[in-house]
Amino acid sequence: MAMNELALETRGLSKNFGALQVARAIDFRLERGARRALIGPNGAGKTTFVNLITGVLRPSAGAVLLRGEDVTHRSQIERARRGIARTFQINQLFRGLSVLENVCLAVGERTGACNNLWRAAGARPEVVDESIGVLEALRLQDDALRPVGELPYGRQRLVELAIALAQRPKVLLLDEPAAGVPSAESHIILEVFERLPQDIAVLIIEHDMDVVFRFARSITVLVAGAILTEGAPRDIAADERVRALYLGEHAHG
Ligand SMILES: Nc1ncnc2c1ncn2[C@@H]1O[C@H](COP(=O)(O)OP(=O)(O)OP(=O)(O)O)[C@@H](O)[C@H]1O
Ligand SMILES: [Mg+2]
Repeated sequence: MAMNELALETRGLSKNFGALQVARAIDFRLERGARRALIGPNGAGKTTFVNLITGVLRPSAGAVLLRGEDVTHRSQIERARRGIARTFQINQLFRGLSVLENVCLAVGERTGACNNLWRAAGARPEVVDESIGVLEALRLQDDALRPVGELPYGRQRLVELAIALAQRPKVLLLDEPAAGVPSAESHIILEVFERLPQDIAVLIIEHDMDVVFRFARSITVLVAGAILTEGAPRDIAADERVRALYLGEHAHG
């Protein structure tokens, strides 16, 4: 695949926390339009990997490339401007602001209508219209004027997703987007995924295998900070080493 078709690449990406190697020279590629799931046991280093990609953490070695550009030494904000959006495993929202205000902030930030004067940005009809459109996609319109902090946790997760989408990212990284979302509402997340622009590259970290297999066209398996295997869902599901991880079977060899 040509370089310009790669949305995201890591080369030899490594991270140590003291003696603990949490990322071990990870070579990873995410194509434009990818629908990839990153799976692996608790503590495998999945969240750390996303934190390295987004610039929350600095790598001990290696590089992160976004659409061919080396962003290893770029800040989180600079990477976001280059098209990376993410949701967090533990949500980070402006809890005192309304749902609509949170999304307007993200739209205003992207369009430059914001410039720290979010009230002015929110007052712009095009920003509000676009924000309401995002909320409708996530069935959040009835909660638009409620402070985020008052919403049930599952709805807060949907707000996080709304904020990530409002950034119109090129690369979308979702760390357990369905965690804490009631199963009656998790289909909303899957529906939103199906309607994402085709060319966005999406990487989701997810423990719920129903979500993984409904969403992913390819799967990367991370174990102890290293990629164990990658491939099509049916190949991963049939892989004895992966089955051993998830089913508690004894691996052979
Ligand atoms: N800031 C830190 N300092 C020290 N160790 C850390 C730090 N962050 C993570 N770790 C350790 O790194 C390892 C990988 O953690 P990480 O959160 O990336 O795993 P994960 O695959 O996301 O797990 P989970 O599925 O439970 O979310 C764990 O052993 C964790 O305790
Ligand atoms: Mg994690």
